[in-house]
Parts: sequence; C-alpha cells; structure tokens
Amino acid sequence: MSRYLALFRFCRRSRFSCICKYFLAFTFLLCTFIYCVLKIKLSIDYHYAQVFYQSQRSQICQNSINSTREKPKLILFWTKIFTNPIDANYINNYLFASPGRCDINRCKVTNNRQELCASDAVVFHARGGIKMNDMPQERSLHQRYILLTKEPPYKTTAIVGHLNYFFNWTATYRTDSDIAYRYFRWRRKDEVVTEASPQSYLNNRQVRAASMISNCYSQNNREHYIKRLSSVIPVTRIGHCSWNKCHKSYYECLNELADTHPFFLAFENSLCRDYVTEKYANVIKNRRMIPIVFSKDFDLYIPNSFIDANQFSSPENLGRFLIELVKNSTLYDSYFKWTNKYELVVPDENDYLCELCKKLNDPKEPNKVYDSMKKWLYDDATCQRWISKLNRTINVSVDETMDYEDSLF
Ligand SMILES: *[C@@H]1O[C@H](CO)[C@@H](O)[C@H](O)[C@H]1NC(C)=O
Ligand SMILES: *[C@@H]1O[C@H](CO)[C@@H](O)[C@H](O)[C@H]1NC(C)=O
Ligand SMILES: *[C@@H]1O[C@H](CO)[C@@H](O)[C@H](O)[C@H]1NC(C)=O
Ligand SMILES: *[C@@H]1O[C@H](CO)[C@@H](O)[C@H](O)[C@H]1NC(C)=O
Ligand SMILES: *[C@@H]1O[C@H](CO)[C@@H](O)[C@H](O)[C@H]1NC(C)=O
Repeated sequence: MSRYLALFRFCRRSRFSCICKYFLAFTFLLCTFIYCVLKIKLSIDYHYAQVFYQSQRSQICQNSINSTREKPKLILFWTKIFTNPIDANYINNYLFASPGRCDINRCKVTNNRQELCASDAVVFHARGGIKMNDMPQERSLHQRYILLTKEPPYKTTAIVGHLNYFFNWTATYRTDSDIAYRYFRWRRKDEVVTEASPQSYLNNRQVRAASMISNCYSQNNREHYIKRLSSVIPVTRIGHCSWNKCHKSYYECLNELADTHPFFLAFENSLCRDYVTEKYANVIKNRRMIPIVFSKDFDLYIPNSFIDANQFSSPENLGRFLIELVKNSTLYDSYFKWTNKYELVVPDENDYLCELCKKLNDPKEPNKVYDSMKKWLYDDATCQRWISKLNRTINVSVDETMDYEDSLF
C-alpha cells in the first residue's frame, strides 16, 4: 500500500500527471474487483463444500468392501500429484512387488476411479487439483481419506481448509501427521567414527553468504532479512529474484557456490511449524558450508550443524558474528563435527506408501477423522513472519486469498 501511495506522489510530479493518475486509479479498481470476485468464488466453493458433506453421509457405497484378509489393500489416488497422474504400475512393481522394499507389502495402488468403492484408502494431493465438482460421490465407512502434501499452508489449495469431517489421515512433512512424508530426517550413527576431514573446512574462504531463491516474495519476509544482512557482509543471490542465474542443476550450483562461500542462507519460503526442506538438507549433504536457518523446530536439524538467525538480535548482529567466525577456523570447523556422530537420511519419494500400507493392514488402527481442517492446517501450523522494524518474528495467520492454484484463471 505504501508503495502504491509513493507511486501516486511520483505521478503528481510527472509531466503526464493526469493520464498517470487515471491509470493508477484504474489498476487499483481492477485489482479490487479481481480480489472481490476471488473472494466470492471461494465462498461459493466453501458453501458447496458444506453441502457436500451433508449429502455425502447418505451416499454410502452399495457393495461395500469385502474385507477378506487375503486381498491386498487398495490405495486409490483420486487426484494427481501436482500435475502428474501417479504411475500405478511402476509403484506396484517397485514398492509392493519387490521383496524388502516395504516391511508390509500387501497393498496395491491404482488411479482407476471405477475402483472407488473397493478402495481401502483414497489419496488427495493438496495441489493435485482438488475441486468441489470433482469429488467422490460415494464413500465407504472403513475407507480412509488421506491428505497428501509437502507444501506449506500458504501453498495448499484453499478448499482443503474447508473439508471438515472429510480426511481420516494426513501424510505431510508435519511431525504430527499420521504418516511421515518428509524431506529428510537424521539419525545417530551406530558408533562414533572420526571421518577423514579436510585440514580446515574454511580453506581460506572470506566471509560471504550465498542464497538461492526462486520465490521472490516470501511469506516470512526473508528478503528483507537478507537485504539487511548484506549491508554487513557480502551476500550472493542466485535465482529468479536476481540478475544472477545459474543454469546447472541446483546441487551443482550449490557446490560451485561452496568454493567461495563459507555460509549458505537456507531460509525457507515460509516460517511454519516443521517446515524444513531439502534447502537445509542439500547444504548438509554438501558438507562445505554452514547453513544459516530461521529455526522453530530444533529437533529437525542435526545438532550443532547450523547457525540459527533467530538467536541474534538483528541481521547486523548475525553478520558481525559471521565476520568473527571466519577468523577462528577451530570454531568454524566445530560446525562440521556432527559428521562423526550423525548422518542425514533422505527418504525415497514413495517411502510414505510403505507406512500407509502398514497402517492399512493393521486391524488395530482406530477410526480417526479431522473435524476442523482449518485448525489443523493453518492454526496449528503456527506460521510466523519476520518484521524488520522489530528485528524479530511475530505470529501471523494464513491468508487464504494467497491461494493461487484455486484461482479463477
Ligand atoms: C466376499 O468374499 C467372500 C469370500 O471370498 C465371497 O464368498 C463373497 O461372495 C464376497 N462378497 C462380495 C460382496 O463380493
Ligand atoms: C577459537 O575458538 C575456540 C573454540 O571456541 C576457542 O577455544 C579459541 O580460544 C578461539 N581462538 C581465538 C584466537 O579466539
Ligand atoms: C473416516 O472419516 C469419515 C468421515 O468423517 C468417518 O465417517 C469414518 O468413520 C472414518 N473412517 C475411519 C476408518 O476412520
Ligand atoms: C533493530 O536492529 C537495528 C540494527 O541492529 C537497531 O538499530 C534497531 O534499534 C533495532 N530495533 C529494535 C526495535 O530493536
Ligand atoms: C505465537 O505462537 C506460539 C505458538 O507457536 C505461542 O506460544 C506464542 O505465545 C505466540 N505469541 C504471541 C505473541 O501470540
């Protein structure tokens, strides 16, 4: 808004002040109009979401699942995964027909909607195109509806937050999900091994931090943090949001940056509970830079493997600490000692299906239903935003109108 007013003042001074003002007023009205239309469209969708559950209770699958113990459990993918339909044959062969891949493999994946009533689980990917006019019309009571996503709440199709009494289980990056669908985890090594390490991890690099960012306006305001940090130490910005682009693979670019940068700004695009992605994991895998994170959830990071920006009273103070840190290579190297004790584990993209299969085959799994998705998805995610004026983060609520997938266009 303040930027808009600044434009207006600029307009008044310019030679074409009249045209300029009309143009600004027009764009302002157009934006307001689009915003209102979007709001109305969302509320109509939500209304239908409500109607949907009420009517759905009466539409119970006619020929209910024949729960003979011998039949493998059927997992139906109702939506795509983002824009790709799931390759059922590949997954069945690779996960459930190969011995040793899953502990329990009596499962079968399908994307044939004809098999709806025979399915034991129906999976909805939060960005796979969940639409109110494209929902299952029948449901069997022992079926589990599953919400699948690795995206933070801001990037979840808004309608999901209105599907109350709909999902039975969640498979997400959140640690309180029923099924783990994580970017990575870490574990303690069986025995402490002193790994061969370079003479000095610092290796004559000057103080300098790198960032690779493709989402230019983040929910947590990391841009402003990085901007202020860059007034104290040099920061290299690579990605869509700067003129600097790297045309190799993400990991190759990261490895190249590591030649000259001792630090990497592994700030996520959202500062929400448990949302730590491969951004951190890649730096750890590379083992040449210290990741700087905005942490909320210490347990998710390998102990002593990172610097937490939240521990500093301002970006400038973080910068000063980094300047001191590169003067003492013993201290710098201490951030790599974790390699003796811990290791990073990056699960296979489909591993969550093993856990799902195990749960489906467990007759002791209790009934469960998510009564308020809004509470679980948005409120419990406790998202925060960094406020430059305050030098700290504050709690924010998720604005559903941020949702761009479920838009008019
Ligand atoms: C269920 O399975 C049993 C045993 O396999 C079979 O006799 C029965 O006809 C099946 N019922 C239905 C509705 O498919
Ligand atoms: C460097 O850091 C180590 C470990 O914290 C500390 O013991 C040592 O005194 C520091 N050296 C200098 C010169 O400050
Ligand atoms: C799944 O959720 C539905 C809808 O609320 C509920 O009726 C059903 O009992 C639940 N099923 C299980 C197995 O938890
Ligand atoms: C935030 O940090 C800056 C730079 O360290 C400082 O000048 C400013 O007073 C701080 N503001 C608050 C509210 O602490
Ligand atoms: C922000 O949310 C956390 C829960 O994550 C809570 O403990 C804290 O009190 C909240 N802070 C404010 C100022 O509301």
